Amino acid sequence: MPDDEEMVVTPWEVRGKMDYDRLIELFGTQRITPELKEKLYKMAGEEHIMLRRDLFFSHRDLDWILTEYEKGNKFIIYTGRGPSGHVHIGHLVPWIFTKWMQEKFGTRLYFQLTDDEKYFFTPDLSLDDVKRYTYENALDLLAIGFEPENTYVIQDIEHIDMMYELAVQVAKKVTFSTAKAVFGFENSMNIGGIWYPAMQAVPAFLHSWIYGTKTPCIIPCAIDQDPHWRVTRDVAERLGYYKPASIQNKFVPGLHEGGKMSASDPMSAIFTTDTPKQARKKVMAAYTGGRDTAEEQRKLGANPDICTVFMYYDFLFMPDDKELAEIERKCRGGEILCGECKQILAPRIMEFLEKHQAAREEVKDRVHEFSAARLREDIRR
Ligand code: TYM
Repeated sequence: MPDDEEMVVTPWEVRGKMDYDRLIELFGTQRITPELKEKLYKMAGEEHIMLRRDLFFSHRDLDWILTEYEKGNKFIIYTGRGPSGHVHIGHLVPWIFTKWMQEKFGTRLYFQLTDDEKYFFTPDLSLDDVKRYTYENALDLLAIGFEPENTYVIQDIEHIDMMYELAVQVAKKVTFSTAKAVFGFENSMNIGGIWYPAMQAVPAFLHSWIYGTKTPCIIPCAIDQDPHWRVTRDVAERLGYYKPASIQNKFVPGLHEGGKMSASDPMSAIFTTDTPKQARKKVMAAYTGGRDTAEEQRKLGANPDICTVFMYYDFLFMPDDKELAEIERKCRGGEILCGECKQILAPRIMEFLEKHQAAREEVKDRVHEFSAARLREDIRR
């Protein structure tokens, strides 16, 4: 874990001012170079805005997995969600990118819903709560537009019979001192939490285990999950599998100063279940890089580098690079005030939510079509 008081990034806590260069160094990942981006674009047949804007910025073995693909050794994609509450806009970033990768490379997706993790790690959450959020969060995933043929949603508790044989093999290879060093576990951690990293490793190997193939796996996610991949990669070859690759995004900030999104502070994040009106209220109250008075701002300009509204544009709500550059210019030059800028963002987010919520409605009765329970047939063969 970083010593730096300013920044803490673990799978269970993200706070402080993000220094992504430092995270690459601390975690020992690789930066996505322009050459690597080009290689990915060439193979995918098009660019992706989240790469172009360096929102996906870090990786492990991305170059290797693309080369394997070129050789005909196709990968599977693995990502997931811990259902401790409603999904916020930030969670959608890796999923939107995942869908693009799945489409461009025609590969299978394993999506893990870690009901066990959130039960172990969230003191006040009952199993009933977790189950409710598992279903609710699955709707958000499916609303992105995944197709059942190539998408397998794993729920740890329900599908433990398919996972346990691999989980015990992983668990035997990870010592308590490694788990403490990587995850910062303390003596007060319940033993479920200590066991849990074995479960998060499983989907990286599941396809290979079921089909008796050695299949590469790539994990799109934010960089907070990287400690899991260090452990998973460490055991992979000893279990006869490839080390999973990963491609990692930055964090969509919360709407308050300091950027933290917190489920306990509903105003700090826009949840996919917020009404458009609630979302608008949150945007209008968001922290910006503006000055104390309109007069000062017109004279001195504002600072988009620390502005949450600008970051929302960057990630999802202003895909046109020219428009983004223009608003940045106006912001720095004091030509636009924060209130006006928020008036541009709010309707975009409201429209996005309306569409997303309609898509959630449409998949309400279809969750079972995506269930990894279908894999039981393949395991028996
Ligand atoms: P969870 O539920 O905390 O997060 C789900 C996914 O969203 C990413 N993420 C974010 N991305 C952008 N901006 C943010 N503010 C932001 N906050 C979170 C996370 O990195 C993650 O990709 N233990 C995991 C569940 C899991 C998983 C996985 C995640 C199981 N297997 C494989 C990724 C890949 C968790 O609690 O994620």
